[in-house]
Amino acid sequence: MAKNDGKILEDEKEKAEESSETGIFRIPSGISGLDDMIEGGFPFPSVILIAGGAGTGKTTFSLQFLFAGAEKGEEGLFFTTLSEPTQWMLRYSSNFNFVKKEYFNRLIKYVDLGSKLNEPIDEVIEYINDKIAETMPQRIVIDPVTVIGNIVKGNYRKFLFDLTNSLKNWQAVTVLTGEVSPGEMYPVEVSYAADSVILLSLKAEGNARRKYLEILKMRGTDHRTGAYPVSITREDGFVVLRTRF
Ligand SMILES: Nc1ncnc2c1ncn2[C@@H]1O[C@H](COP(=O)(O)OP(=O)(O)OP(=O)(O)O)[C@@H](O)[C@H]1O
Ligand SMILES: [Mg+2]
Repeated sequence: MAKNDGKILEDEKEKAEESSETGIFRIPSGISGLDDMIEGGFPFPSVILIAGGAGTGKTTFSLQFLFAGAEKGEEGLFFTTLSEPTQWMLRYSSNFNFVKKEYFNRLIKYVDLGSKLNEPIDEVIEYINDKIAETMPQRIVIDPVTVIGNIVKGNYRKFLFDLTNSLKNWQAVTVLTGEVSPGEMYPVEVSYAADSVILLSLKAEGNARRKYLEILKMRGTDHRTGAYPVSITREDGFVVLRTRF
């Protein structure tokens, strides 16, 4: 019964989203060049999967998304699954112009999930939901979510699917980053449940490797298709370039 109600609600939500161009509230992604490709920003609320291989820019994208919110006074919550202390992440990210240290532990809270991950999957999901309930942030990141799936006890596919669905209940935009192994396009179990899937990739071009971004799906959004070149620099952060190299 409850399941059917949930399904009906889901269907209604999807219809409402698709029925009107203007009926969807959106928030800016914080990524220069991206909002023009997605009718102005990420649908609010929604769950977005950023999938990509090593070094494609997942963490930079996620941080920039949180800092863009903090600039407008929005609360952000960054879950790391890598057992890294805040200092460690700051060490790498603090030379980006968009990173303002004063937001850390104030508007942007940092939660290390590392020690939780050997608990049963329901408890991990409950812990994440409890942390969200404490601050009720508008922007949430779990980076990378796929690592949780590999560590937790129990059914890893079910875990990722259940987690993604439970995140949809919050009044927030959640960015989940997903690591993909060579040959894999994206983590399927997250992509089914996510409202949007954005792929980040590295492609060899002559002697160089270029970074790309491609929107695979974004519910309720008339979005650009195809892979767009990306640049990541200290000065401008993660930028989607509209001109080809
Ligand atoms: N502080 C920085 N200043 C300039 N460029 C940076 C900085 N940090 C990262 N980059 C560039 O961005 C790229 C992507 O880094 P990022 O950590 O966001 O990728 P990722 O997909 O999260 O990688 P991982 O697989 O290690 O989690 C780096 O390889 C580098 O080229
Ligand atoms: Mg990373």
